Amino acid sequence: MAQINFGGVDETVITRDEFPLEKALEYLKDETIAVIGYGVQGPGQALNMRDNGFNVIVGQRSGTPSWDRAIRDGWVEGETLFSLEEAAERGTIICNLLSDAGQIALWPMLKSKLTPGKTLYFSHGFGITFNEQTGIIPPADVDVILVAPKGSGTSLRRLFVAGGGLNSSFAVFQDASGQAWEKAIAMGIGVGSGYLFETDFKKEVYSDLTGERGVLMGALAGIIEAQYQVLRQRGHSPSEAFNETVEELTQSLVPLVGENGMDWMFANCSVTAQRGALDWKGKFREATLPVLNELYDSVASGEEARRTIERGTTPNYRAELDAELKEVRESELWATGATVRQLRSKAAEKVEA
Ligand SMILES: NC(=O)c1ccc[n+]([C@@H]2O[C@H](COP(=O)([O-])OP(=O)(O)OC[C@H]3O[C@@H](n4cnc5c(N)ncnc54)[C@H](OP(=O)(O)O)[C@@H]3O)[C@@H](O)[C@H]2O)c1
Repeated sequence: MAQINFGGVDETVITRDEFPLEKALEYLKDETIAVIGYGVQGPGQALNMRDNGFNVIVGQRSGTPSWDRAIRDGWVEGETLFSLEEAAERGTIICNLLSDAGQIALWPMLKSKLTPGKTLYFSHGFGITFNEQTGIIPPADVDVILVAPKGSGTSLRRLFVAGGGLNSSFAVFQDASGQAWEKAIAMGIGVGSGYLFETDFKKEVYSDLTGERGVLMGALAGIIEAQYQVLRQRGHSPSEAFNETVEELTQSLVPLVGENGMDWMFANCSVTAQRGALDWKGKFREATLPVLNELYDSVASGEEARRTIERGTTPNYRAELDAELKEVRESELWATGATVRQLRSKAAEKVEA
C-alpha cells in the first residue's frame, strides 16, 4: 500500500509495486475464475486475466453475437467457454459481469451456485446497494468483492495490450473467509488495473451514477445542446455553432486538459479566452450546483435505480431506446456533427496520402 497525497488529502492506493502480479497469481492459484457475461467488461477482464496467467473460464448464453465473439477471442466451448449455469457451477470466483438488468434476472440461478467458500465478484455496486429493488442478497458464507475499472472494457483491454492499465476502485462487502480484501486486490491486479483505490459498494454506485448522469454524459450533452441552441438562435451557422461547441472541445481541449490539467489550458490560450473562461466558470458552477445536488439526492434515495430497473426491464426497451437515439442522431446539432466527422476523416485521408 502506498500513501499518496491527492490535492492535500492522503489516500491509500495499491499499485503493482506493492502487490506484484506474481503475488496475485500465487494468491489465486487454486481458484477458477468464472467470468459470467461476455458483453463489454467481460471480454476486457477475461482476456487480461487469461494473458496474465490466471485460470479463467467464460460463461455466456450461446447463439448470440457475444458467444461468437468469445469463440473468436480463443475461448473453447466445453474447455473454457460454457453456458452461464455451467461456468457459475465450475467457478470458485464468480465474476458477475452481466448487465445490471441481467444480474437481476439471473440472480436466482447464480445464487444457487454460490456454495460456501466461493467468492462473488462485481464491477458495480448497483445490485448489492439497491438490493431491496434487485433482490441480490448473497448467502453469508461467501466473500463478496468488487473491482470497478474506471472506463469501458474496451479501454481496459486496449491499455493492457499497450502495456498500461486503467485505474480501478475495489471494495469488500462481505468477508467470510477473512481474505476477501487480498482477493479483491489480487483480482484488481489480475484484470490489468493501473492503480487501485479503496471504496465501498455504496460509494462506488453513488459516484458512478452521479458521474454518468452529470459531467461525463448527461450534463455534457445538456450543456452542449443549450449552447448550440443559443448560437443558432442568434444567427450563427450550424458549422460555426458546432465547431465552437463540440469540435474544439473533443478534438483539441479535452485531450490537452487530460494531459496537462485545467490551469495549463487556461495558461495556454489567449488573454481573451482566459478572462472569458475564468470569469464565467463560477457562474456555471453556481448554476449547476443545485441540479447536481438534486441528482445526488435522487441517486441516494434509490429513485435513479428504481427508474433504471423499471425502464431497463420493459420488454420494448430496445425499441424505445432506438427511437430516443434516432431523435438525437437526427437533430440538427448531431447531424452537423456527422458531417463534420466526415469532413475530418476526408482531411485526414488527404494528409496520409
Ligand atoms: N461498460 C463499462 O464501461 C463498465 C465499466 C465498469 C463496470 N461495468 C460494470 O460491468 C458489468 C457488466 O457491464 P457491461 O457493460 O459489460 O454489460 P453489457 O455489455 O450490457 O453485457 C451484458 C452481458 O450480460 C448478458 N445478459 C444480459 N441480460 C441477460 C439475460 N437476461 N440473460 C443472459 N445474459 C444476459 C449479455 O449477454 P448477450 O450479449 O447475449 O445479451 C452480456 O454477456 C455491469 O455491472 C457494469 O455496471 C461496466
